[in-house]
Amino acid sequence: MSENQQHEHFVIEGLAGKRTLSGTVAIAGSKNAALPALAASVLFDAPVTYTHVPHIEDVKRTYELLEQLDATVKQTDDGVVITTSAVGNGRLDAGIAERMRASVVFTGPLLARFREVTFPHPGGCVIGERPIDLFLESFVRMGATVEERDDVYVITAPKGLTGATLVLPVQSVTATETLMMAAALASGTTIISNAAMEPEVSHLARFLKGAGVSISGIGTPTLTITGTDGVLFTKPHTYETPPDRIETGSFLILGALCADKLHITNCLPEEVRAPIERLRRAGAVIEIEDTSIVVQSPEALQGVSVKTHEYPGFPTDLQAPIVVLLSQAEGESHIFETIFEGRLHYVDDLIQMGAEVRLISDRELLIHGPQQLSGRILKSPDIRAGLAFIIAASIAEGTSQIYDIYSIDRGYEHIEKKLQGIGLDIRRVSE
Ligand code: EPZ
Repeated sequence: MSENQQHEHFVIEGLAGKRTLSGTVAIAGSKNAALPALAASVLFDAPVTYTHVPHIEDVKRTYELLEQLDATVKQTDDGVVITTSAVGNGRLDAGIAERMRASVVFTGPLLARFREVTFPHPGGCVIGERPIDLFLESFVRMGATVEERDDVYVITAPKGLTGATLVLPVQSVTATETLMMAAALASGTTIISNAAMEPEVSHLARFLKGAGVSISGIGTPTLTITGTDGVLFTKPHTYETPPDRIETGSFLILGALCADKLHITNCLPEEVRAPIERLRRAGAVIEIEDTSIVVQSPEALQGVSVKTHEYPGFPTDLQAPIVVLLSQAEGESHIFETIFEGRLHYVDDLIQMGAEVRLISDRELLIHGPQQLSGRILKSPDIRAGLAFIIAASIAEGTSQIYDIYSIDRGYEHIEKKLQGIGLDIRRVSE
């Protein structure tokens, strides 16, 4: 975080019930698709070009992690070109890795390539306990030894990783991606059973397959990967970052709340089917085109229940934004967060803004609407709840100030410019 960002906040004038947002918003490349794909550069002894990479803080930290490893990161007219030929060891920079959970995806390719990886317990958003047991246990099943020394994990596999059958007890996006990359350089065949089916996993798998990795079962819960026994991939390759489905869903929610007519372009509608289904059920008017969606706010929204679920279910990353929407819907809505146990911590602020929300367990909420929200001074607790606060401030009566916006910049590219472009009064202010 730069000095400046530490002292920046957003000031938002709420629309107070008006449905006036309109125009076009283009969706950026997906954060959660770009991060593992950038880590996959470690599997190559050739430059890899990445297009449509979002200009967000987590991506900048990932470039820094790569540079700390002695990779070169070059911005060109075609995109970002990463070459990892000079990387000589698997020691992840602790300062960056501790602050960004997604850094854990580097452990798979680094361990497979250097037979050793050293990293701290990965940090990230404050959304509950985020264990790494699936990673460690799977590496052990592939022949590695795990040691905890001082504040770091040291994982070694002096003879290289060996293919194994990995039955994941829970579907984990990052674990699936990490193990898929580890398996690409292992000897023999790895089967990942109960693999996550999130689109970001499939985008990575298709990219690896295009680069020469033998991989089947893409898009299913069983992935089969045959490794090269340490031989790096040498074909120069390009990864086209797909559009961000969470940003798409967030603008759909904002549009359903307060847009006269909002065109969301450069998106993949098929990846947001579950949010579209819930929003339509709540009354939003949504038209789907090939790579764009048009959303209009209805006269009145109706309460619906939402249960977060692994893909293709309703994404946990849209849980906070949809709670804001449901605070404006008639009747009662029930929310059940099934993925993370600590992801409802932001609701106190919504209650202070006037939402009628009752926490009935650490995973469940009851919402009664509609209640007009009032502007407030807020602190963004994490990427997704931070965006939910922007949405809440946009529909509130009066002015809101949102602090700690580095956490929002971690995941959204120029968010205030996009919102200004569709008619919201939002400013980034430096103190
Ligand atoms: C990914 O996190 C995303 N992050 C998250 O996005 C997203 O919320 C999450 O998937 C769920 O969709 C990235 O892709 C970088 P998981 P991940 O492992 O992979 C448990 C955002 O704001 N688990 O799929 O870390 C875990 O506790 C973020 O962009 C273990 O038990 O999530 C959870 O209950 C935040 N042991 C469940 O699996 C492990 O070793 C699913 O989490 C690993 C995970």
